[in-house]
Amino acid sequence: MGMAKRFIEMDSSDCLRTKAAKAALDQVLSVLTPSSVIGIGTGATVEIFIQLLKQSGAEFSHCVSSSERSSQALQQAGLSELPISSCERVDVYVDGIDEGLSSGETIKGGGAALAREKVLATMAMSFITIADSGRLKLALGAFPLPIEVLPAAELAVTRALQSLGGTPVKRENCVTDNGNIILDCSGLDLSEPLVLETALNSIPGVVENGIFARRKADYMAFADDGGVHWLARN
Ligand code: 5RP
Repeated sequence: MGMAKRFIEMDSSDCLRTKAAKAALDQVLSVLTPSSVIGIGTGATVEIFIQLLKQSGAEFSHCVSSSERSSQALQQAGLSELPISSCERVDVYVDGIDEGLSSGETIKGGGAALAREKVLATMAMSFITIADSGRLKLALGAFPLPIEVLPAAELAVTRALQSLGGTPVKRENCVTDNGNIILDCSGLDLSEPLVLETALNSIPGVVENGIFARRKADYMAFADDGGVHWLARN
């Protein structure tokens, strides 16, 4: 599906993350009801979104967080949260990305929260991404692909990734919220993101990988010095 494009003029003194987060907030507020459940991704951009959401005073049911880090930020902001384990519905999910295509496929996991992020994005009625425009790419793969792996399967998965042409590197000092490790893998062929997403998840020991192709973004905000490019999947 193609993306319709619109350009939003904004104050050039705003930082790029704030611009993108503001654009996402506007979209969220336009659909929010008192019973809405808001899914919260992970990362610096999302933390700005959390602040803006709090400042907006918007009425909604509660948030569901993709990480311990975001849960802490929600708690500090005084926003109500229910655990992901009891989450039955997500109306709108907002998250940062590491790379994205205008057709909606993204790579995530720079913050090691990709597994829960994918659960929430997949549950969500609407998935909004927020990033600076440098993350909008013509092809995925400049960023090594984060893959969450059972610690016991580190060597087995490393071999399997190498046999696919990849070069996995274990992320240092990183244990995910699920108690697993992250292998950052460069050299994989990302020309067909959905094919690779499926293939990687069929390797025993892989918990999840950072390709979001099965669940594409519905709306993408990319901020640059001039404003926010807003892409909407139709
Ligand atoms: C966490 C992610 C982040 O959303 C992604 O890395 C972008 O983070 P930031 O907003 O800090 O640049 O995928 O797993």
